[in-house]
Amino acid sequence: MVGQDVPVVNRIGEIFDREADLYDARYDTHADMAEDQLTAKRLVNFYSQGKLVDLGCGTGKLIELLGVDTEDYVGLDVSGGMIRVARSKYPLHTFHTDDITRSLLMGESYDYAVSLYGSPSYSPFRDVVREAHRLLRPGGKVLMMPYAPGRKNAPRPPQAPHAARYIRAAEAREVLKEERFVRITCHGVGVPWAHASDRDLPLPALQVLLETEANHGIADDGCFLLLIAEKRR
Ligand SMILES: C[S@@+](CC[C@H](N)C(=O)[O-])C[C@H]1O[C@@H](n2cnc3c(N)ncnc32)[C@H](O)[C@@H]1O
Repeated sequence: MVGQDVPVVNRIGEIFDREADLYDARYDTHADMAEDQLTAKRLVNFYSQGKLVDLGCGTGKLIELLGVDTEDYVGLDVSGGMIRVARSKYPLHTFHTDDITRSLLMGESYDYAVSLYGSPSYSPFRDVVREAHRLLRPGGKVLMMPYAPGRKNAPRPPQAPHAARYIRAAEAREVLKEERFVRITCHGVGVPWAHASDRDLPLPALQVLLETEANHGIADDGCFLLLIAEKRR
């Protein structure tokens, strides 16, 4: 039974524990596939070998999209259930059940910190950014996809009724700057839930829609922000 005094992060863990076995099957619509294709392209442009920490790794989506070498990858998630599924899919990769706002990993050990598809949005955003900064070596790069307001004003998908936070582009940039990241870029990505019917379009149409939004979209209209920044050398 979940009580008021249980730390929020444990409650998030329990929620995702319950979702873990069904999680992948829930994200197999055309919209999800189109989003994944674009995210994979962005990850390939972002990453070029080196140690990577996956913050809120869930069931291992990042490995599916990027194919990081086993020795270069570490995935953290507070949900033991999500970690169990990730391990069953990628038995040679390393996963730990841990809190991405204050992990047990050694600082300055990673070239890349990535937090895909809303994982930074269940905790105070600044705490996730600060932990990413601690984990990165100087010159290391971060890529985060917190939920953006474009997702907020729409009916929640039934599979994600739990509380998550939404962050505007200006605030996200400010937090990254205050936490001493440089070369910050930010734009809106993903099918906004406000246009829920768009999610049923055929795959080629969704690909065009998303490419167009990625090139011209206003950050706050996106379903996610795509934030990329570097730790000062
Ligand atoms: C929406 S899922 C996304 C998972 C994965 N990144 C993906 O793209 O499929 C969010 C994940 O973040 C994890 N998470 C949320 N807050 C966390 C925290 N403070 N520490 C560790 N994991 C957290 C949840 O347990 C969940 O697995």
